[in-house]
This record gives sequence, structure tokens and C-alpha cells, in this order.
Amino acid sequence: MLVSAKEMLKKAKAGQYAVGQFNINNLEWTKAVLLTAQELNSPVILGVSEGAGKYMGGYKAIVGMVKGMLEEMKITVPVALHLDHGSYEGCLQCIEAGFSSVMFDGSHYSIHENMEKTRALVQLVREKNLSIEAEVGSIGGEEDGVVGKGELADPMECKMIADLGIDFLAAGIGNIHGKYPDNWEGLCFETLDAIQQQTGEMPLVLHGGTGIPEDQIKKAIGLGVAKINVNTECQLAFAAATRKYFEEGKDLVGKGFDPRKILAPGVEAIKDTVKEKMELFGSVGKA
Ligand code: 13P
Repeated sequence: MLVSAKEMLKKAKAGQYAVGQFNINNLEWTKAVLLTAQELNSPVILGVSEGAGKYMGGYKAIVGMVKGMLEEMKITVPVALHLDHGSYEGCLQCIEAGFSSVMFDGSHYSIHENMEKTRALVQLVREKNLSIEAEVGSIGGEEDGVVGKGELADPMECKMIADLGIDFLAAGIGNIHGKYPDNWEGLCFETLDAIQQQTGEMPLVLHGGTGIPEDQIKKAIGLGVAKINVNTECQLAFAAATRKYFEEGKDLVGKGFDPRKILAPGVEAIKDTVKEKMELFGSVGKA
């Protein structure tokens, strides 16, 4: 059964671990993430960007696929299906389609417009018992067409958004989507600490989970991060494994051209990446 991410993240914040949000791109991706979560008895959040939503045939198609898998693959761990960096319109569509959670990314609006739109969505989400993530201070880099400058969020603005009744908050603390450049200065823990002081028990979200060193991940969890988003790292692992399959000429041997065979090494690579992250985030056994 799909659940909202509210309870799992409340529990994670109280227990000082983080739940991974793994972005999905297709059926194989979804299956790999779900099977790993079940194997490790971990709660999990499936992230869907608006671009990936279109790619997979629309939000309703995704809801059908995920619900079908949960039932037929007998997945019993808590699973949330969450819109990642949604527009206002995208949130409305996902709520209607049956997602259990949405993120409204109003970070590019003025704080007042961000608050106004977040407030309206909080109301809608409450009526349906779903969860909602909001964002203050844009995350650097590009996430599927959503480009952010990479700001340090203002802790007072974080409090203003948190007080609207959202369930978890993404705040820019020097994190970037995609690979980190060599001259990256690392996460700004001073800002994270100040945000947590202002927002109290609110679970905080760390976007751009790919490539953040382990010690910084652990420190961030210690300062209130209860959800960590990972996308690029699974894509890189999938691409490398698929490349190897072709470079070794495996598609030319026997029935090696069968798409189920072609995609199998990439799926295993996604599973390994998800497992590694769940162990690092501390969510194993927390279902
Ligand atoms: P990465 O692609 O850097 O892992 O970031 C994922 C993310 O934050 C999705 O919102």
C-alpha cells in the first residue's frame, strides 16, 4: 500500500536516520528500488520529476505501475510515491492521479508567493491525508530541466514556510544536483544548524545526495536531515553497467539482444547503489 511520507520521516528524524528518496525513470528502476527496500526492510520514497512523469506515460500510468508492483511483488515496507520539484500545476495533477506525496518547489518565487502557493497546497493535501514537501533557497545545478542557482536558505524564511503546516522541508545548504564540482566547498552546516533551530521537529530534506562524502551525510543527519534524495548516482551506475554489457559484446551472444537481458546488469547496479545508500542513511531494518 502506498503511504504518505509523513510518518516515516517523523520516525526517521526522531531516530536520527534518513529515508532515501530514489528517483525512478522506468519500470526496471521502480522494481529495483522496491525489491531492495523490501530485502533490507527499509521504508522508501519513490521520487518522480515532472520530466520523468511525462517520460513514463503520465502520472496515472505511474500510480498504476507502482500500486500493481506493491501488490503483486508483495512489498510490505512503507512506500511513498512523491512528486519531485513539482510546479503548482504538477502538484494538483499528482494529487488527482493518486500520488501519496508531493513536493512543491516554489523556491524561484518571492517568499510571499512561495508561501501563498504552499499554503493552498497544504490545505488540499490535508484533505486527502497526503504529505507535502516545500523548498526554500534553490538547490544548485539542474534536476531534469529545473535549474537552481544553489543558495543558502534563510533560516527565518524556512520557519515561515515550515509554519504553514508542511510535512518536511528542503532547504538549500550548498547542495547541488548532479555531480559535485572539484572546487565544491561542501555542505554549510552552520546554515543547517540555524534552520533546524528555527524549524524544530520538522524533518529536513537534503537534495543532491549524489557524491556527498559519507562524513557529511552523517553530520547532516545529526542536524535534522531525515530524507535524502538520490538520482544521478543510480543513473551513473546503470549507465556504466549497461555500457559494460555492450562493450563485452554480450548482446551479440545467443539471445543477448533480449531487452530483459540487456537491462539486467543495470538493474543490479541500481540495486547495489540503493543498498549502499540505505545502509549509509541508517534506514535498514526501520520499516
Ligand atoms: P542527485 O541527482 O544529485 O542525486 O539529486 C537528486 C535530487 O535531489 C532529486 O531531487
